[in-house]
Amino acid sequence: MKRLNLAIVLLIFCVLVSAQKSTKATKSSKSVKEVPAYKNPRLAISERIADLISRMTIEEKAGQLNQISSGSLTGPSTKDEGDVKKIEQIRNGEIGSFLNLTGSKNTYDVQKIAVEETRLGIPLLFALDVIHGYKTIFPIPLAEACSWDLEEIENNQRVAAAEASSAGIHWTFAPMCDISADPRWGRVMEGAGEDPFLGALIAAARVRGFQGDLTDGKHIMACVKHFAAYGAVEAGREYNHVDISRYALWNKYLPPYKAGIDAGAATVMNSFNVFEGVPATANKYLNVDVLKHKLGFKGFTISDWNTYSEMIFHGYASDEKDCLEKAMNGGGMVEMSSQTTIKYLPELVAEGKISMAQVDEAVSKILYYKFKLGLFEQPYRYCDEQREKNELFSMQNRAVARKSAGNSIILLKNENNILPLKPTTKVALIGYYAKSKVDMFDFWTAKGEYQQAVSILEGLSTKFPNLIYSDGYKADATTTDSLINRALEAAKNADVLLVNIGLSGALSGEDRSLANIKIPAGQLELLKALKKTGKPIVALISSGRPMVLTQIQDISNVLLQCWVLGSETGNAVADVVSGLVNPSAKTVMSFPVDEGQIPVYYNHFNTGRPLPEVQGGDWFSRYRDIPNQPLYPFGYGLSYTQFAYSNVGVNRTTFSKSDTIIVKVNLKNIGKLDGLEIVQLYIQDPVASLVRPIKELKGYQKVALKQGEEKIVKFKLTANELGFYSSEGNWTIEPGEFKIMVGTNSDNVSSTVVRLVDK
Ligand code: NOJ
Repeated sequence: MKRLNLAIVLLIFCVLVSAQKSTKATKSSKSVKEVPAYKNPRLAISERIADLISRMTIEEKAGQLNQISSGSLTGPSTKDEGDVKKIEQIRNGEIGSFLNLTGSKNTYDVQKIAVEETRLGIPLLFALDVIHGYKTIFPIPLAEACSWDLEEIENNQRVAAAEASSAGIHWTFAPMCDISADPRWGRVMEGAGEDPFLGALIAAARVRGFQGDLTDGKHIMACVKHFAAYGAVEAGREYNHVDISRYALWNKYLPPYKAGIDAGAATVMNSFNVFEGVPATANKYLNVDVLKHKLGFKGFTISDWNTYSEMIFHGYASDEKDCLEKAMNGGGMVEMSSQTTIKYLPELVAEGKISMAQVDEAVSKILYYKFKLGLFEQPYRYCDEQREKNELFSMQNRAVARKSAGNSIILLKNENNILPLKPTTKVALIGYYAKSKVDMFDFWTAKGEYQQAVSILEGLSTKFPNLIYSDGYKADATTTDSLINRALEAAKNADVLLVNIGLSGALSGEDRSLANIKIPAGQLELLKALKKTGKPIVALISSGRPMVLTQIQDISNVLLQCWVLGSETGNAVADVVSGLVNPSAKTVMSFPVDEGQIPVYYNHFNTGRPLPEVQGGDWFSRYRDIPNQPLYPFGYGLSYTQFAYSNVGVNRTTFSKSDTIIVKVNLKNIGKLDGLEIVQLYIQDPVASLVRPIKELKGYQKVALKQGEEKIVKFKLTANELGFYSSEGNWTIEPGEFKIMVGTNSDNVSSTVVRLVDK
C-alpha cells in the first residue's frame, strides 16, 4: 500500500503540472491514428492520468465527480423516462459512477455506453452497499465483530468481494468504522462496537478483505465511513447532530477510520452529522486537516446520500450552488445523489470560487482507481456471467457464512449447563421470528434473497427431528391469548422450551433508531406464561443491537444472543444449541440495564465522585434507581466449558520507552469440553495530563484449550501502546505508573502495576 500511496502522490504532481498547461476543453490535435497516451497501458498510470485530464472539459470533470443511483436502470433498451435521461447523461460524460446498479449483464450494458459512446471512453464505477455479503449474507458486522477473529472477518469480506465483483461491482460502501455505545441507534449493527482498539483492528481486517491489492478483478474498493464520529449521534437518533470534543474525536472515534485508511482504503465517506457547527461534508478540519494531512489519506472522498444539498436544511448553505462551493472547499470530491456538481461546477470554477487544481486533484484520484482496477484495458472484467453464476451463493460461500454465524453467537447465561442439548431432547420452539425467513435478514442485505435463508425453525428441525413449533406472538411482536395458549400446548410434551424473541430483522439498520430497546411486551407476556410450566427456558435473542434484557434475565434459564445472522442463521443457531459449536463470542457492546444508562461503555472516565467501592463516602455519581454498571459488560461471553485465570504477572515492573514488557497469565480449561477463550488485556493510565479511561483494551488472544489443558498466555506491550492523543492529534506518551489488567471480560480482570521511566 505504501507503493500505492507513492504512486498517487506522483500522479497528483503530474496532473497538477498538466492542469497548468490546459484548463479548458482541448480536442486532441494529434493525428487520428495516434493512440492517446491515456489509452496506452505501457505508460505509467500517472502519465496516463495527466494526459486524460488535459483532454477533459470541465463538464467531463464534473461528470467524474457525479454519482447517482441507478434506480430502475438496467440497460440502453429502457423506455422509462428517468432511465432514458440517465443514459443520456452517461453519453454526455456527466456520470462517473453508479450506485445500486448490479449484475454482470446490467453493468455490462451500461458500461458499454460509457466506454463506446462517450467522447473519451472513461469507464464507470459501479458501487453498492455490500455491508455483510452480496448474495450470501453473513452475520451483521456487529455480530461478526463479536468473534474477535480477524482472520475470519477478513476472509468474510474477501468472499463478499468475490461475489460482488463477479456481478459487476467495483466498490462497496463498507466498512462502517463508527464507534458507538448507543444501542438505540439502529446502525450499531453495521460497526464493530464501542471499543476503538478492537474497532481499529477490525476496520483494517475488513478493508484488507474487500480490497486485496485491487488488481485481480476479484476484490473491490472499500469505503471507510462515516467520517467522522457519526456513531456519536445525539440520543441515538439517525441523521442527528454530534457534539463531541476534539480529544474524544482523536482518542475514541478516529482510530478505526485511521486503521482502515492505513490498510489502504481507497475511499472515505462523509457523515450526515455536523461537527463543531459545520456539516461533516463541508468540514475542512475533518476532511483536509485531519483526513488528508494528519491521517495521510490518499484516496478520494464521497459524500453520503444528498449530504451536499442537505446543507441547506442544516442552515449552512443558502442554495445548491452554495452547497457545492462549501462542500468542495471543505474537502469534498465525489457527490452522491444530489447532483449539484454537474449543475454548478463549471460556473464555480469560471468564477474562481473553486480552483481547477482542486478539481483536477479530485478527478485524478478517481481516475487513478479506474486505471488501477484495470477498467481502461478491460472495462468488462467485472461482468462475467459465468463467474457470476459459479460464485454467487455457492456451497463454499455458505459454509464460510455458517461458520462465521456460529462464531458470532454469544452465550450470556447458561444455568445448570442446560445447553448444549442432546439430539434426543424433546424441544418446543416458540416464536414467530424463528420461522420467518425475512427476519433472518436486516435492512442491509445487498442482493441476498431471504427466501433462500435458513430459518431458525429449519435449522433446529434438522438437529432435533421431534421439535414442536408454535408462533407465540405475531410479526409485530404482539401476542394474543390464543397464541399463548397454543404455545403452552406445544410446551406440554417438551423437555426444553426454546423461545425466539427480540426484534424483527427490519428493525436493524439505517433509520432504525429505537427509544425502547426492551424485549417487546407481547414476548414478555409469553415468556411469563411459559415460565409457569416450570420447564427450562432458553431465550434465543434475535436483534441487530444489544437490547435491555433486564426483564427477561430471571425468567430465562439460558440467554443466547443470536443477533441477525443472515443466510445461514438457522444452521448456525442449531450448531450452537446442539453443541457442534461451543460458543466463544464476546460482546463488543455493553448490554444496558435500562435505556436510561445509555451511553454505557466500559472505557469511561472516572468522575471526581466514583462509586463508594472506589472511593468511599456519600454523594457520588450514580443513579438512584439502577446500577451504573451494564447488565453484561464489554468483552463478556460464556462458553460451554469454563476457564480459570491465575498468576497475572509481568516480566519487569519498571521499563523505558525502548523496552517491551511481557504480560503473562495462566489459563486453564477446567470444564468438561474443549473450548476457545478470548483473553483480554487492559491498561489504565491513572494519572495523566489529560484524564484517561478507567480501562482501555490493548490486546487479546483467542486461545483454544482442550478439556483440562493449561497454557501460559503472553502479551507483548510497549510504551507506545500506553500513549494517547492530545486534542491536536499528537500521540503522547507520559512516564509514570500504569495498571495492567488481564481477564475474561472488561469487568472481570486481575491487575498488576508497572512503571514507565523517562530515559
Ligand atoms: C446512506 C448511508 O448512510 C450510507 O451508509 C450508505 O452507504 C448510502 N446511503 C448509500 O446507500
